[in-house]
Amino acid sequence: QIIHLEDYRPTDFVLERVDLTFELDPKETKVEARLIFHRRGGVSLAAPLVLDGDELTLTGLLLDQEEIPTALYEATPDTLTIRGLPETAPFEITVTTLLSPETNTKLMGLYRTSNVYCTQCEAEGFRRITYFPDRPDVLAAYTVNIIADKAEAPLLLSNGNYLGGADMGDGRHFAAWFDPHPKPSYLFALVAGDLGVVEDTFTTASGREVALKIYVERGKEARAAYAMDALKRSMKWDEDVFGREYDLDIFMIVAVSDFNMGAMENKGLNIFNDKYVLADPETATDADYANIEAIIAHEYFHNWTGNRITCRDWFQLCLKEGLTVYRDHEFSADMRSRAVKRIAEVRHLKSEQFPEDAGPLAHPVRPTKYREINNFYTTTVYEKGSEVTRMIATILGRDLFKKGMDLYFDRHDGQAVTIEDFIACFEDASGRDLSQFSLWYHQAGTPLVSAAGSYDLEKQTFTLLLEQTVPPTPGQTAKEPMHIPLRIGLLLEDGSEAKPSAVSGADVTGDVLHLTERKQTVVFSGIPSRPVPSFNRGFSAPINLHFEQSAHDRALIARHEADLFARWQALNAMALDNLVKAAAQARNGEPTACDDALVEGLLAAATDDRLEPAFRAQALSLPSEADIAREIGSNNDPNAIHAGRQAILAAAAAAAKDSFMRLVKEMALSGPFRPDAESAGRRALRNAALSYVVYADGRPEKAASAFGAANNMTDLSFALTLLAHRFPGAAETAAALAEFKKRFVDNALVIDKWFAIQATIPGPGTLDRVKQLMSDPLFNASNPNRVRSLIGTFAFSNLTGFNRADGEGYRFLARQILEIDPRNPQLAARLLTSMRSWRSLEEKRADHARNALQQIADAPNLSADVSDIVERTLKG
Ligand code: ARG
Ligand code: ZN
Repeated sequence: QIIHLEDYRPTDFVLERVDLTFELDPKETKVEARLIFHRRGGVSLAAPLVLDGDELTLTGLLLDQEEIPTALYEATPDTLTIRGLPETAPFEITVTTLLSPETNTKLMGLYRTSNVYCTQCEAEGFRRITYFPDRPDVLAAYTVNIIADKAEAPLLLSNGNYLGGADMGDGRHFAAWFDPHPKPSYLFALVAGDLGVVEDTFTTASGREVALKIYVERGKEARAAYAMDALKRSMKWDEDVFGREYDLDIFMIVAVSDFNMGAMENKGLNIFNDKYVLADPETATDADYANIEAIIAHEYFHNWTGNRITCRDWFQLCLKEGLTVYRDHEFSADMRSRAVKRIAEVRHLKSEQFPEDAGPLAHPVRPTKYREINNFYTTTVYEKGSEVTRMIATILGRDLFKKGMDLYFDRHDGQAVTIEDFIACFEDASGRDLSQFSLWYHQAGTPLVSAAGSYDLEKQTFTLLLEQTVPPTPGQTAKEPMHIPLRIGLLLEDGSEAKPSAVSGADVTGDVLHLTERKQTVVFSGIPSRPVPSFNRGFSAPINLHFEQSAHDRALIARHEADLFARWQALNAMALDNLVKAAAQARNGEPTACDDALVEGLLAAATDDRLEPAFRAQALSLPSEADIAREIGSNNDPNAIHAGRQAILAAAAAAAKDSFMRLVKEMALSGPFRPDAESAGRRALRNAALSYVVYADGRPEKAASAFGAANNMTDLSFALTLLAHRFPGAAETAAALAEFKKRFVDNALVIDKWFAIQATIPGPGTLDRVKQLMSDPLFNASNPNRVRSLIGTFAFSNLTGFNRADGEGYRFLARQILEIDPRNPQLAARLLTSMRSWRSLEEKRADHARNALQQIADAPNLSADVSDIVERTLKG
C-alpha cells in the first residue's frame, strides 16, 4: 500500500493529553494509555476514531472509565476503530495492551538489549506499544509512569522532567515523568535497567542549570567522557550560532548495544547506538571520535530542529534531518578544520548519495510517495537535504540566512510544518523568490553542469558556456532547469586570482555564479591572460561538473587556489583521470601508466608544511574503487578498477618513497594520546605516508612493526588494515589478527573493527573468509552492529570481493537478507541497498545480480521494508 503526499489531511480527533503507565516485564509488559481527545470542529459525527497499531494485543478498552460495548469497536493487531464517540466534548479513551519486549527482535517499539528495556519509536514504532494516532502532526504533553522490579531496573527514565517515585513495597518501585513540551509519539522514549552514569551540568545563556547524564553499561563510564564534552560544546554552540537554548531541567543520553541506527533524538532522552558514545584512546579511532562529536551534536540540535518544530508528515523528513545535518556539519567545521571537514563531507556525499541519486532507488529530497517510510531515512534526505540547506545559506548570504532561521524558530515553534513553510521563512526574511530554487527538494538526480571556456586575448574576455541537465530518475523523466549557486575562481598562470571588471550572462554575488537556465553564456571581462577556472569552490552545489582540464591546469589549482577544498578537488580530479585510464589499461591487459604530474601534485600537497597535516593526508588519499567505478559510469569491471588503482598506488609510492619515509618520521607524535583535530591530522598524514612506504616496499615487515608499535586504536587498526589488505596470506597478518582478537575479545565495538577489516580484504577469496567468520563464536547475527560490520561492510565496501565474477557474492547476500528479514526487516532492507548500483556493472555480473534480486523478490512473506527495496531496485 502506497502513501501519497497529496492525500494528507489532519486527524478527525484532536489529542489533548497522554498519560501512560508501564508495568515492565520481559515477557508480559502491561501498557495502559489514557488518551484525551475531542472531535475536531466540522468533523462528521459518524467519523470513528481510528488508531494505529502494529502487532498489538488489546487487553482492555474504556471510554471515560466505562467499558465500550464490543459492537462499538473493532481491534486488529494493526488498527483500533471506535465509533459512537461524543460530539464535541473531550473524552478519555483508556487502552491496555500487552507486550513482550524480550521477543521484539525488530528493535522498534519497546525491546530489551543487554537486560535493559529501551524504545525506538521513529518513525512508526510507537504503534507497537499502544494503539495511537501515530503520526508526527499529533502533538501532546505526556505523563509517563514506570513500574518495574527494583533489582532488575533500578533506573527508570522517560522524557521531560522527573516528577517523583517511590518504593512499592513488593520488590517493585515506580517513577513518574512529565514532558511539558507537546510532542509527537515518535519522540517518546523509555529506558529501564541497571546502568552506570556520567554526570555533569550545563548553565544556559539565560541561567538555567541543566543536569546532564550519560548512561552506559556499568564499567564503561570512563569511555563516556568525550561524549559528555561534545555534548557541552554542542549546547554552547547552538546558543552562540543559532541562538537556541535547552528547555528542560535535565538532558539524558543512554547508550545501548543493539540499535538499528546511529542514534535517536527523543525529547530529553536521546538513545544512542553505543558505537557513537563510547571512546577511549585504546579502543576508538580518530574517526570514531569525530563521529561521536558529530552525532552527539546532531541529536542535541534536533531539540530545536525536529522536536520544538517537527514534521507535518513523513514526507517532510528532510525538514528536520537535512537541516540538522547541516547544523552538525557547521558545528564540526567550527570545532575542527573547516576545509578538511568539507572534504570529508563531499567524499561521503559522492560515495553514498551520488550513487543513490544515479540508481534505481533515486528519490527527491522531499519525496511524494512511499510504501515503507523506514526506507526513506536515506543519504538523499539527510546529506543532500543538508546540501540544499547549505545552498540557501550560500544564496542568501550569512545574515539573511540567519534572519530566515530566526523567523523559522519564531514563527513555527510548537508546530508540525512542511518544507514549503521552511522556504517561506527565507523568502519572507530576504524578499527573494526561491520558487525555482525549491526544485532541489522536488527533482531527484544529480544535476550535471557541462562547461566549456574560451579566452579572447584581444578583448581580454573569458567566455564560459554552461549547460545543465538533470538526469531522468524513477518516476521523473523530464526535469526543469535548477537554480545552481556555483562558486568559481579564475586563476592566472602565476597563481593569482583574476578580478573580472564585469560579468555578463548570469547573476553574480561575490564569487557565486547563479545558474538558472539550461544554457548560459557567461562573459568575464578584464581578464589579462588565459585563466584557469576553478569550479564549485567549497562544493557550493551538489552537482557533477564536466570540464576538460589539463593536468597542468589542475596542478595550478591544486597549488594556488585560495579555497583549500578546491585545491583538494583539483588534485582528486587529476588522480581520478589517471585512475580511470589505468582501469581501462588493466582491463585491456596493457601496462598502466602513472602520470608524473600526479606524483608531483600529491607530493607537493603532502610535503607543504604551510598546510595542516589533516589536509595533506586528504590530498594523499586517492579516490576509492567506488569513486572510480562511478566516474566510469557503466559496464564496470571491479577487478580492472582494483588492478589499475593498485598499480598507480605502487608507482606513486615507488616514485617518492623517500619523501613518504620522511613524512612518517616527521609526523610522529610524542606524549599522551590526544583526540583533538590537530593530533588526529598528524596521525592521518603519518598513516597515509606509511601506506605508500609499505606499497613501495612490497613486504609486510614495516606494517607489522607499525602494528607492534601502535599505542592507540587509530594507528593499530590502520596497521592491521594495511597488513590484511596488502598481505592477506602473510604470517605477520595472521599473527596480528589473532593478537588483536585476543586483546579486544571483550570489547564488542573493537571486535566489529576486526570483522570489518577482514570483510574488506580485496579479491574473490574473501567471501569464503566471511562465511567462516560467520561461524566464529564472536559473530552474533542478532546484533545489528555485528551484522553490519561483517556482512554490511563486505557488501558495501568490498568491490572485488562482493562483485565476484561468478555472482556468489550476490547469492550470499540474498540468503542473508532472507535470513535476517523475518527478525529485523529494517536491518535487512538497509543491507539490501548495497545492490543499488548493480546496473552499472558489466553484463555478466549484472545478470547474476538481477537473478539474486529476483530470488529475493520471489521469496514468500517478505517484509514491506525488503519487498519495497527489492522491487524498486529491480525495476528502476
Ligand atoms: N531521527 C534519527 C536521527 O537522525 C534517526 C531515526 C532513524 N529511524 C529509522 N526508522 N530509520 O538522528
Ligand atoms: Zn537526525
